[in-house]
Amino acid sequence: MAHELLQYRNLKLFWNDVALSDQLQKLNTPAYVYSRDLLTQRFQAFQDAFPKGRLHFAMKSNHNEALLKHLHQLGSHLDVVSIGEAEKAIQCGFRPDQILFSGPGKTQSEINKALEWGLFQINVESADEIQKIKKTGMRARIGLRWTPGLDVKTHPFIKTSHTDTKFGLSFEEIDQLIPEILKDPHLHLQGFSLHLGSQILDLSDFDLAFSSYLEMVLSLQKKYPEMDLKTLDIGGGLGLNYQNSDVDADTQRLQDYKKIVERHFGKIPFQILFEPGRFLVARSGGILTEVQVVKKTKNKKIVVLDAGMNNLMRPVLYQAHHQVLPLIQRKGESEIVDLVGPLCESSDFIALDRSMSALQVGDKLWVADCGAYGSSMASDYNLRPRALEIFIEDLESLRA
Ligand SMILES: Cc1ncc(COP(=O)(O)O)c(C=O)c1O
Repeated sequence: MAHELLQYRNLKLFWNDVALSDQLQKLNTPAYVYSRDLLTQRFQAFQDAFPKGRLHFAMKSNHNEALLKHLHQLGSHLDVVSIGEAEKAIQCGFRPDQILFSGPGKTQSEINKALEWGLFQINVESADEIQKIKKTGMRARIGLRWTPGLDVKTHPFIKTSHTDTKFGLSFEEIDQLIPEILKDPHLHLQGFSLHLGSQILDLSDFDLAFSSYLEMVLSLQKKYPEMDLKTLDIGGGLGLNYQNSDVDADTQRLQDYKKIVERHFGKIPFQILFEPGRFLVARSGGILTEVQVVKKTKNKKIVVLDAGMNNLMRPVLYQAHHQVLPLIQRKGESEIVDLVGPLCESSDFIALDRSMSALQVGDKLWVADCGAYGSSMASDYNLRPRALEIFIEDLESLRA
């Protein structure tokens, strides 16, 4: 049965049973609004599914300070992709040994700092990175990121595991690097890592990749018995359906994913590391925006909002779909409109050819499921001010 987080009741939009029009009508726009309750539910569902797993939230998906502090309180670890993220994580209370460091282009200075600070593990993505680590002369705990050469079914810009990718190492490269790593007393190869890509809805991609991943790791362990493996990182990537807000379907997807993970890794002696981003935070936030202009061109109706690609890149970059819903629905015929941003840039849109109830200047709209890869990808383009971000401890508490 579907349980929609977003529902209309008497023409008012409710989010998790709270009327957004009552709560947010007076908030300055554009504004990112996050719900602590939804984030907590999501994190706990993931943790409950994998009680023995170590959850490293992918901070690239959202680096809002209040959200990070809350995840820290919930017991999350982090996956970071720059030393800037690591620095902010530490400021938000995370210990260095709770932080995994991934990314295909780490600089020497980033590696120096990661080792000085004692981050939990560096996921190495190239032979050059090993040389940079060796250059420091410091002790390093590393994982080798494997690229399975699998063309996962998602948008081309968020695939990371096909053959000709900048991410990770092939089996042959890994096999060549291991003897060099084992010879160096400063290097501890403590694990392997894998991340297939993002917004993966066809779970057979995980099934296929996990099967060859485990086979590879076990064969390498046989070949190099002196390896002291502790961790197996299986990345993030679990997707959700942006066409609706059905959290029951999300729960079912998590259960299906759990079955696949358990089938492959249920009995192995290494600690399983997870790097979920989107699945934890996407549904926990949305953007409140206001209609600025409504105009008719020869063939189109165009609605200009005060939120654009500077606030939310995903529609433009990945042709991503986000539901856009008026806080108060007007009665009457709906019409097809382009919902665009205010930037001086033709590619600036939030949704094209959308069927909406009639809109007027000043109407407030909710852009749904923007908690992941929303504010963290925002830019200063056109020097419009960054959207306000509010992290609401308890939506009910805002009731006027
Ligand atoms: C290395 C790494 N880990 C984890 C993630 C998180 O992925 P997702 O948000 O799809 O779970 C990403 C994002 O693509 C990533 O690059």
